[in-house]
Amino acid sequence: MTFEELAARRQSCRNFDAEKPVETEKLEKIVNTARCAPSACNSQPYTLHVVSEKGLAADIAKCTQGMGMNKHCSAARAFIVIEEEGAGLLVKTSGRLKDQDFASVDIGILCAHILFEAEALGVSSCVIGWFDEKKIKQLLAIGEKKRVRLVIALGYAAEGDVLREKKRKPVAELAKFYR
Ligand SMILES: Cc1cc2nc3c(=O)[nH]c(=O)nc-3n(C[C@H](O)[C@H](O)[C@H](O)COP(=O)(O)O)c2cc1C
Repeated sequence: MTFEELAARRQSCRNFDAEKPVETEKLEKIVNTARCAPSACNSQPYTLHVVSEKGLAADIAKCTQGMGMNKHCSAARAFIVIEEEGAGLLVKTSGRLKDQDFASVDIGILCAHILFEAEALGVSSCVIGWFDEKKIKQLLAIGEKKRVRLVIALGYAAEGDVLREKKRKPVAELAKFYR
């Protein structure tokens, strides 16, 4: 499959098969591919918490469901919780000088690596930005002052889950070409 095809196939799964766990080898492969992600000054300012133990995964799911949100997470069989680590002095200083938040950019790129490796392995995913950070930190023994930036729900799509049409800005709106 070309990368173009992979990108067209990947979509946020909101219909996981609760009966199909994600194999540990696949989770390890996803993490290994995520290691290849580029980051500012190669600082890799993150730690991945990979949760597939059923009880803990159910607890993480609950943390994404405040105010009736993310009901689909109950059927996800694994989560990758991305904790931000403090960047080194060089990244911090250059970020400040250039008024850029490199760690957030790095985490976005990391997340993309996770999503696409999962998709390549036939594992569906959904990025979750709505979560109870405090509760997740308690569950995973993450320090109070640390930040959890993203949660990625993983699992196998339930049978009959269809590929949706991508609703995206047209190219002319998305990009300006300087030829
Ligand atoms: C930072 C971020 C946070 C998101 N948070 C949620 C979320 O809490 N719940 C959810 O169902 N989808 C969430 N999504 C998924 C987006 O809604 C989805 O990627 C977007 O609508 C495009 O659809 P697609 O992923 O199916 O192509 C999030 C995506 C990103 C990148």
